[in-house]
Amino acid sequence: MATVASAPTIDPKVSAFVARKQKMLINGKWVDAASGKTFATYNPATGEVLAQVAEGDREDINRAVRAARAAFESGPWSKMPPAVRGKLIWKLADLIEKHLEEFAQLESLDNGKPLGIARIADVPLTVEHMRYYAGWATKIEGNTIPLILAPPNKFLAYTVREPVGVVGQIIPWNFPLLMAAWKLGPSLAAGCTSVLKPAEQTPLTALRLGELIQEAGFPDGVVNIVPGFGETAGAALAAHPDVDKVAFTGSTEVGRLIVQAAAGNLKKVSLELGGKSPNVIFADADIESAIPGAASAIFFNHGQCCCAGSRLYVEKPIFDKVVDGVSHSAEQIKVKPGFEPDSDMGPLVSQEQLNRVCGYLESGLKEGAKAVTGGKRHGDKGYFVKPTVLVNTNETMKVVREEIFGPVVTAIPFSDPSEIVGKANDTTYGLAAGVWSRDIKKAHTVAAKLRAGTVWINCYNVFDPAMPFGGYKESGWGREMGHEVLEHYTEVKSICSAL
Ligand code: NAI
Ligand code: MG
Repeated sequence: MATVASAPTIDPKVSAFVARKQKMLINGKWVDAASGKTFATYNPATGEVLAQVAEGDREDINRAVRAARAAFESGPWSKMPPAVRGKLIWKLADLIEKHLEEFAQLESLDNGKPLGIARIADVPLTVEHMRYYAGWATKIEGNTIPLILAPPNKFLAYTVREPVGVVGQIIPWNFPLLMAAWKLGPSLAAGCTSVLKPAEQTPLTALRLGELIQEAGFPDGVVNIVPGFGETAGAALAAHPDVDKVAFTGSTEVGRLIVQAAAGNLKKVSLELGGKSPNVIFADADIESAIPGAASAIFFNHGQCCCAGSRLYVEKPIFDKVVDGVSHSAEQIKVKPGFEPDSDMGPLVSQEQLNRVCGYLESGLKEGAKAVTGGKRHGDKGYFVKPTVLVNTNETMKVVREEIFGPVVTAIPFSDPSEIVGKANDTTYGLAAGVWSRDIKKAHTVAAKLRAGTVWINCYNVFDPAMPFGGYKESGWGREMGHEVLEHYTEVKSICSAL
């Protein structure tokens, strides 16, 4: 593993982890794939093989679902008091925190993101997410219901919230560890058991998490982790007749396939899908904060965020100033391997994503867009793309309509504030939006009209475990985080007793 050996700051525990063939976690045991097959995960900064991982498929998913079912129906997990469940989740959070540096390094190597970002964002957010849901384990309650058609005291009716059962969790590669936490935190709090399938590009932190899940003392089979490809392991999990719910984060295209696969047993489905989020800057905005805000809205995580502020609408009088400012910010970004100490932006995750993003750039430029800065690949090794600001675009271009999932923003001027809501909402997506204005009334009036699951006013990309996140329209079904997500991991039972 040349890449790892040549990185000077690498933790020996991380080198040892990637050098070892990675297995899958089924029923508390680390096992090979039933087929014996493995697949490679690559270092996106170099394109070299980083690690070999057991390749899960239908048979492994079947075994994992059986283990999750047994743990749900009859194992110690099903009899555990909520307070004990909560303590286990908290203990897991402590263990992740204890190994923060190791997780940050693994994430940087596998995904490409700067090590410094993984240290201050991905891993600490994962820890706090787990702690937030550790608290929820003891706060899931029902109601007493006064029946309206019966005289008082003839019936006692109440609801309880029960865990939905065995959950399939299919996650993407942009925030690999954090996405695992977004899924596992609430499902464990609710008392579900699960089969987690990490993205094939970035399985490593989920597998290390599996080791800590065991160390924390979760009973066997409560969390099973099966790495593998989407079309095989992912599809088998989504279609499995003994899975009660599937929670998916990824492309809208695959979201549709998940819905079809889930139709067989009508399992519950929650989806967190793509976006093409508008970020609207009015002329009365505090431009000193709006410019860096607009830059980080698109360039954070190399634009590989479902909520990236990829359509920047700027009121005409300040358009040139904002475009100059965001382009200047783009030019200051140091695009380097994530392991270099001064890296601000690493490579995209894979050759496939590099091809995809470069394809969008070519199509935009061919259709007449102009790159104020960037517009092409960066260097010739690894999957780097230059942070890009496109102008001279129009609403029919693919770069304006489709999710690029790279560091590419289209900047579009507007002159009539009354038309901006229509333009902002002119998308099949509805995940997030930004509004920048010093006029409180205007900002909240526009926020109310935007068809998006999150609207940030005078800020962007602010995430909190307590704040729900998810999409309108083709950006998905349901919400992650907050107490909202617990509704997807629980069933409501009404109990009515004659008195
Ligand atoms: P994808 O949607 O194919 O992959 C996400 C996850 O779904 C992975 O774990 C994958 O193995 C799994 N998967 C793929 N096909 C499946 C199937 N038929 N059944 C079950 N699971 C399946 O996303 P991909 O191909 O990696 O990226 C393509 C585009 O998707 C990106 O350019 C971006 O636009 C979007 N995307 C959006 C994300 C988000 O956070 N909303 C995250 C990743 C990608
Ligand atoms: Mg795909």
